[in-house]
Amino acid sequence: MVITGAAGFIGSHVADALSGAGHEVLAVDAPGRSLAPDVAWRTWAEVSAGPGVSVAEVDLAVDDLDAVAAADVVLHLAGRPGVRDSWGAGRAIAERDNVRATRRLLAACLGRPAGRRPKVVVASSSSVYGSAGRRPNREDDPLNPASPYAVSKAEVERLAGQAAGCGLRTVLLRYFSVYGPRQRPDMAFHRFIEAALDGRPLPVFGDGRSSRSFTHVRDVVAATLAAAAAELPPGIVVNVGHRDHVAVQDAIAMLTEALGVPAEIRREAPVAGDASRTWAGTGRARDLLGWTATTDLAEGLADQIAWHRARRAVPEGAGVG
Ligand SMILES: NC(=O)c1ccc[n+]([C@@H]2O[C@H](COP(=O)([O-])OP(=O)(O)OC[C@H]3O[C@@H](n4cnc5c(N)ncnc54)[C@H](O)[C@@H]3O)[C@@H](O)[C@H]2O)c1
Repeated sequence: MVITGAAGFIGSHVADALSGAGHEVLAVDAPGRSLAPDVAWRTWAEVSAGPGVSVAEVDLAVDDLDAVAAADVVLHLAGRPGVRDSWGAGRAIAERDNVRATRRLLAACLGRPAGRRPKVVVASSSSVYGSAGRRPNREDDPLNPASPYAVSKAEVERLAGQAAGCGLRTVLLRYFSVYGPRQRPDMAFHRFIEAALDGRPLPVFGDGRSSRSFTHVRDVVAATLAAAAAELPPGIVVNVGHRDHVAVQDAIAMLTEALGVPAEIRREAPVAGDASRTWAGTGRARDLLGWTATTDLAEGLADQIAWHRARRAVPEGAGVG
């Protein structure tokens, strides 16, 4: 099995889970393409130490992809995430590392002889919906991408749907605000916890009333592996999100209580293109994958806090898995 983006937040957990279950894994990444290359290189070293893991440094947007396409299953989690960073110069990066990289990967897989093409599970994002209304977003709702990042993911979905029409078994997973150990440093809980542990006010974009289907990475790994294993209609899209949506200000209250610090906030301007609400419809994931997110937010936040504390307790370079 191949995992792209294996030096990243979600990909590293998927690689660890497969390695821990005794699978042979080819972990693919170009850590220098990460939003936070120093973090990615460290995670890369941690992942490569797993039993059964071999690593290949491959830039999906330019390098030869024959070895990647020769797998039975490709879990394609590489890319440039983040709504905020996709404005300005970030637009071209999202285009390169999301759209171009995925187009090349799908073409390499389609270039294999029929019958020897891999199944390809592709990471998409809840951001393709825009903001949810008064009910959870279902997979067949119209898309309303509101940032260059969301537009790039909508295009990734279109390409994967097109590849399915040409005979490739693709699955699109729309991940919803993933959190937990190794969360990316640009993401909200990571920034909040680090600020709180430093004794700084928590930097909050907007008024804190926006809400998210926050989904623990352990649940996301389980959904991703279930999607890899299940017989699914080619090109199917599946939401991977917690059924509840929680306001950022309520999540902050939980966090600060767990940390035992006052909820001191530093307000920052809202981010253009950020959804005011994401809310996952979970019926299809339940019906097709037998999957439901089971980690509640308080439990999942405690887990992430423990990771930040452990990371601070070890000297730089020693690594915490
Ligand atoms: N974290 C979330 O909440 C979330 C939500 C929705 C969707 N997603 C999507 O899930 C995937 C994983 O997200 P993440 O949070 O783990 O991000 P991440 O940035 O931690 O991991 C992405 C990895 O992809 C690698 N990469 C980037 N461009 C590459 C290229 N051209 N060739 C090879 N590798 C490349 C990076 O080095 C990085 O290690 C992304 O596609 C992201 O858009 C994440």
